[in-house]
Amino acid sequence: LTVSTAGAVAAGAPGHAAARSGWGRPAAAPAAPGPGSPGLGDSYFPDYGNGGYDVDHYDIRLRYEPATDQLSGTTTILARATQDLTRFNLDFVLGVQSVKVNNYPAGFAREGAHELVVTAPRPIVSGQSLTIVVQYAGVPSQTRVDGWTGWTKTTDGALAVNEPESAWWWYPSNDHPSDKATWDVSVSVPTGVEVVSNGVQPRPPLAEPGNRTRWGWRSATPGATYLAFLAIGDYDIVTDTAPNGLPVVNAYSTTLGSLGPAARASIERTAEIVDWESGIFGPYPFEAQGGVAAPANSIGFALETQTRSVYGSGFWRRGSNTYVVVHENAHQWFGDSVSVADWSQIWLNEGFASYAEWLWSEEQGEGTAQEWFDFTYASYPADDGFWQVPPGDPGANNVFDDAVYDRGAMTLHQLRLAVGDAAFFRILPAWTAAHRHGNGTIAQFQALAEQVSGKDLDALFTTWLFTKGRPELTAGGSAAR
Ligand code: ARG
Ligand code: ZN
Repeated sequence: LTVSTAGAVAAGAPGHAAARSGWGRPAAAPAAPGPGSPGLGDSYFPDYGNGGYDVDHYDIRLRYEPATDQLSGTTTILARATQDLTRFNLDFVLGVQSVKVNNYPAGFAREGAHELVVTAPRPIVSGQSLTIVVQYAGVPSQTRVDGWTGWTKTTDGALAVNEPESAWWWYPSNDHPSDKATWDVSVSVPTGVEVVSNGVQPRPPLAEPGNRTRWGWRSATPGATYLAFLAIGDYDIVTDTAPNGLPVVNAYSTTLGSLGPAARASIERTAEIVDWESGIFGPYPFEAQGGVAAPANSIGFALETQTRSVYGSGFWRRGSNTYVVVHENAHQWFGDSVSVADWSQIWLNEGFASYAEWLWSEEQGEGTAQEWFDFTYASYPADDGFWQVPPGDPGANNVFDDAVYDRGAMTLHQLRLAVGDAAFFRILPAWTAAHRHGNGTIAQFQALAEQVSGKDLDALFTTWLFTKGRPELTAGGSAAR
């Protein structure tokens, strides 16, 4: 997969030694021009994302063949250098044909499982704008990273939906939620096949030669790379306008058979659910909404892809499921608008989306949050392994562990009990307002909760988020109420 090498990536290249010491510390610009770092120093996934530049926009223009899973195209990245650079990395795994930087052909080479190293054709200075054009082709379902692919081939097309790794199977990027950007997606497919993605359709699908159609989608609000998605296949697309005036686009795989009606009965309530959530979390942060019911037997999870969550078919097996719709849409605030700055802080996403389900239950008269807390606490005996995963720092292999979700929601319930409903329901919208379209940390959340409530919450956060073992319940936090 390694291709041309106009400029060497060899150790000993000018500036290499000087900047090497800066790897993993992107904030510190090297004295001499040097390489950008191959990672952003995430504490769980240190080589995800890249240092040395900041992306503003991705223009992703693709062609896809559902029969063979051949994906080809060009992504144009608009970025800005944050240090002087001799080379920089992108996260990408398909075969690259050419790279241009500010219209000059650039050298490039594969390094490790998912790094594409681009050599600057001319020196790049800090602050300079970069237009990076990458031309590529490949078969994403057969392109494995650590023996695995997050691109799902379906009987009728494909799904690019996964967390935290999904972008590098379909577009080159700075693949970390700390570098948000806007994006346009355009995909040419055989006419009759649908393409669904984030945001809005800026224009109707266009006919192209060869009995093909080019679909276009635009995400005008900055988002994390893993929240961009593609659903290609046979879909019924249902459009509407939400009570808040935003466009709603829902899409239903035609492969769902008897699960189809339950999928619709759930996803069609997205606008109502977003409206209810807006009343608790603050103004809805994006330009559109909706949901995608994925094909039968495709993915075994749901994901809060920006503006338009994608749901695996398993959620409809027992009939309609508004809880998963509540969960994924809560992520539009918690995860999508306010994103983690480090993957270790996944509780800021999953704890909040899970607690939203308890609030919905309370609203629906299907059990109060206190009842869910008591039920959950009792469901896991003190010696259960569940209590050995601290949700505030679960470990790279446990980012989606039950503890992050369930103990994560329990933590928020403890916070609610500690500060009282009035403060608790001021903290949530204050949080989404303070970090709207940005990033937040657990320390910042604790500080905000302390500021709003006027209470010292250190013991609560330490016990519930960061300490192994089942916390004892004290008066006021009692499971026995
Ligand atoms: N954020 C998703 C959710 O809880 C979880 C995705 C899990 N990812 C996976 N590949 N299983 O809604
Ligand atoms: Zn979730």
